[in-house]
Amino acid sequence: MQILSTPIELSKSLKKYSSKGNSIGLVPTMGALHQGHLELISKSKNENDVTVVSIFVNPTQFNNSEDFNNYPRPLEEDLSELNRLNVDYVFTPDDVALYPKKQTVFIDFGTPARVMEGEFRPGHFDGVGTVVSKLLHIVSPSRAYFGLKDLQQFLLIRRMCVELNFPVGIIGVKTVRERSGLAMSSRNQRLSERGKEVAANIYKGLKKIEEGIRSGNQLNYLLETSRIFYSKIDEIEVEYLEAIDPSNLHSVTSCQNLKELAVCFAGYVEGVRLIDNLYLQFK
Ligand code: PAF
Repeated sequence: MQILSTPIELSKSLKKYSSKGNSIGLVPTMGALHQGHLELISKSKNENDVTVVSIFVNPTQFNNSEDFNNYPRPLEEDLSELNRLNVDYVFTPDDVALYPKKQTVFIDFGTPARVMEGEFRPGHFDGVGTVVSKLLHIVSPSRAYFGLKDLQQFLLIRRMCVELNFPVGIIGVKTVRERSGLAMSSRNQRLSERGKEVAANIYKGLKKIEEGIRSGNQLNYLLETSRIFYSKIDEIEVEYLEAIDPSNLHSVTSCQNLKELAVCFAGYVEGVRLIDNLYLQFK
């Protein structure tokens, strides 16, 4: 496993693969690796000749400096896990390597980036789009892998790559959950055992919506029922619970005529911001 920390070193090292026609898989992460990341890595290793994992806590996607400072950074543990997994390259740039000068150009995804995460974390997706574009240019991967837990991020990045002709396949990987249903996230490290138990209710509220839809209940009614369910749990503070059509990220109140539906949750448990979603495809 090679650990490189400048864009030039990495691009140079990867040239020998692309010139031979070998496929490169990129797994962009902010570190604090968990089983969800390991799924992305395993998929990349199965589908590509070479796998690159990047670890970079990207400052431009945080609108809250406390959240940025508190983001876990267990670099040594992450590197030994990646070594165990036989990852080919790990890219660990610092802020100066990726932002040598004050960044003045950002990706703007438009209206779909101003709802849900974008509404509560203004500028978040400008930063995500910008850093992901940089990584895609540096690595030139055949495929890049993103967890579907960050559904809005996945949908926006996929759209960016189609509309801006990035020659890369954007692959979404199913959310990995604890036995309790809690979606795996680097942020879970900041929860106490009790906090994790409480947070498992997030998925319970989403599953109630799925069961209700399958039994033919109205989406609006189900959203309201789950909002009431969450409001009865004192330790969960809901930021939003929103149903969208994933094809355009428009908010919806009914499943009629939809091929797919996502119900997205964001909220706080023990002061830790958590997100999760339900992604349903209809025949
Ligand atoms: O999902 C994440 O961990 C980050 O948003 C990403 C895609 C690595 C960009 O910093």
